[in-house]
Order: sequence, then C-alpha cells, then structure tokens
Amino acid sequence: MTALFEEIKINRMTLKNRSVRSATWTGMAEHGHCSTRLIELMEALARGEVGLIITGFAYVMPNGQALQRQLGIHDDAMIPNLLQLTERVHAANGKIAMQIVHAGVQTVVRQRQKRGTPIWGPSAVYDKFFRRTPKAMTQREIKETVQAFARAADRVKRAGFDAVQLHAAHGYLVSQFLSPLKNRRTDKYGGPIENRARFLFEIYRAVRKNVGKDFPVLIKLNAKDFVRGGLNQRDTLFVTKRLEEMGIDAIEISGGVPAAGDLGPARAKIHKVKEEAYFLPLAKKIKKQVSVPIILVGGIRSLKTVNHIFKTGAADLVSMSRPLIREPGLIKRWKEGDRKKAKCISCNQCFGAARSPEGVYCVMERQVKIRKKKQATR
Ligand SMILES: Cc1cc2nc3c(=O)[nH]c(=O)nc-3n(C[C@H](O)[C@H](O)[C@H](O)COP(=O)(O)O)c2cc1C
Repeated sequence: MTALFEEIKINRMTLKNRSVRSATWTGMAEHGHCSTRLIELMEALARGEVGLIITGFAYVMPNGQALQRQLGIHDDAMIPNLLQLTERVHAANGKIAMQIVHAGVQTVVRQRQKRGTPIWGPSAVYDKFFRRTPKAMTQREIKETVQAFARAADRVKRAGFDAVQLHAAHGYLVSQFLSPLKNRRTDKYGGPIENRARFLFEIYRAVRKNVGKDFPVLIKLNAKDFVRGGLNQRDTLFVTKRLEEMGIDAIEISGGVPAAGDLGPARAKIHKVKEEAYFLPLAKKIKKQVSVPIILVGGIRSLKTVNHIFKTGAADLVSMSRPLIREPGLIKRWKEGDRKKAKCISCNQCFGAARSPEGVYCVMERQVKIRKKKQATR
C-alpha cells in the first residue's frame, strides 16, 4: 500500500489521503458566481476520492480578476452558490479549499472590459509578456488589497469551505511583490526580501485574524520564477521559514511565471518518469528547512513518482491539475488497483478549452470518445 492513501491532518482538517487537486481555473463561473456545472465537476472529483480539492483562483477584488468566467469571492453575494458547492462536495465525502488571488498585471478580462482603468502592480515596470505597464500601487491601495484578501478569506469560511489557499505563485500580484524584477519599490514594500514579502505577510496576518487559528490557511508559492532577475530560491527559503513561524498550515510548491516559457508552472510533454515532478529538487531543499506540510505540484503523472516523492520525504502531499481534468476518478482508479499512470499527455490544450464557452475539458479525451463512437457506428 502506498503512502498516498494514508490519512493526514492539516490543522483541524483531516484528509482521507494525500492527494490534492491543484487549483484549476475552469472557465465555468457565471459573473463570478459558482455554477451548476462547476458544482458537478467538483462533486466528480470528490467521488473520485481526491483528498483535498482546491477551487480555481477566485478574485478578491473586481480589479484583480485574471480571466473570463473566473470565480469571484469579492462580495457576500457569491456565498449562497458556494454554500451549495461545499455542501455537495461534503455529501460526496470530499474536502474543499478555495484559492484566493489578485491578478495584478496579469489581468486579461478587466483591460478588455474597462479600458483606461489602471492595472495594479508593485511598480510601473513594463511587462513584456502582457505588453503593458501596471500602475505602482500606493500604500493605501496596498492596505485596501490586504483587507480585501482578509474579507475574502472570511467569506470562504462562511461559505463552508474546509480551508483557504493564498495564491502567491505564477506571477500574480503577491508573486509580483516577491519578485525583484517586478518590485522596484523604494518604500517598506520593496528592496530586500524582508520588504518584498511584507505585502504577503500582511495578507497572511489579516487573513489569520479573520478566520481564526483553527481554520487551515494554505499557500501556493513559487520555489523559483525561472526568469532572469525573478524570485530565487534563497529568497523563497526566507519566506517559507517566516510563514512557518507565523503559523501557515501547508505550503504548495510550484514555480515559473508566464514569461518563463517552457519552464512555466504547467510544463508540456511529460512522457517519461524522469520528466515528472519537475519541482521536486526545489521542494527537497525547502523541506530540509521547514517542518510544515509541503504539497508538491507540477508534472506528477504516475504512482511510481508519487511513491518516490514520499520516499524522499520532500513532500507530504502530491497535487495534480491536468491529470484530473482528463480523469477526475484517477485517485479512485489507483486505489482500486489499476495502477497505470495518468492518461494526461500534458499537451496543454485544456487551457484553450477553459477559454471556450463550455469551460475546461480534456481535448484528447474528447477526441478518443469521438473516434470510438465513429468506429462503433461503422
Ligand atoms: C486549465 C488550467 C487552469 C489552471 N488554473 C490555476 C489556478 O486557478 N490557480 C493555480 O494556482 N494554478 C492553476 N493552474 C496550474 C495548476 O494548478 C498546476 O500548478 C500546473 O498545471 C502543474 O500541475 P499539473 O502538471 O498536475 O497540471 C492551472 C492549470 C491548468 C491546466
């Protein structure tokens, strides 16, 4: 029996196994509200025996929305639909956390909708990937955003979620503050990592104050940005150690930003075992320094790799996104003895699917189904 199916406790939350569905934007929300389709998808993941499901990123303020049909948690009006979601997941014996975010410069929707409205960032540094320059946030806007995260976390708790996850990875606003490349501030929020991390630490403290010490607060963090001048691992080690001292309940290790290209968070063409778990060497270094539960994400595809990760001691939980788009029942399949690796071929066509009005689906799986149907009718 693999360690994957051992129980684990994170703060007061007990998970039946060590698998996590990493936060995945589905493009299924309706004006920020959770939809019936989204509830059905999450329910399928719970039935598929995922230990902890993390929702797609939900924006804490309207100007922090990244993508179309993204979940919002900026208003109490979001709560009733989310209560239906958490009830359905709990009825299916699942546990669910909500990831909360401010997109900063990486906002796609807002610019289209409201041209001329400033896009926020730590500094007015031109972003080559998004081809725009954000407005440097004032200290007042920083405070406003910290409070927006805290209020959002309180809504997450009131909506019946089991935990909240702060999105501090992948180049979104918190990640931009951590990055020396994006953060050129000369006030107390810029300069050495102690200052660049101040925004994140203020968010964490305000969130903790609002949800209390017993409610699990998790974070998704880049081990490294994989761009020249971006966040490096030495600085990440400082951040993880401080977060542990402050009482964070678990840290999900990811890496990369959109400009990192092939070295981004969702790397393509993972075919061989040695190509899997591409952030494992970085997680090992972090785990040596902290004892807080570590969740590892990025290219995990086979039970062999999962077992190897646990054997190294580098992580306490394993997290997947794309494999569970193709097979929401993957964990159950493994548990029931079919140990073949995930069918996901990391083609990344699911990103395009999430942009379609239908929302996310596995393009390859659909092609296989269509082919089979054609063969059957021949
Ligand atoms: C369609 C799609 C949407 C994603 N949305 C999010 C998100 O909302 N928040 C987040 O932290 N990561 C998001 N990710 C990244 C994944 O959580 C994960 O870090 C990455 O895909 C690597 O894991 P994998 O190899 O198991 O897919 C998304 C990935 C995909 C494919």
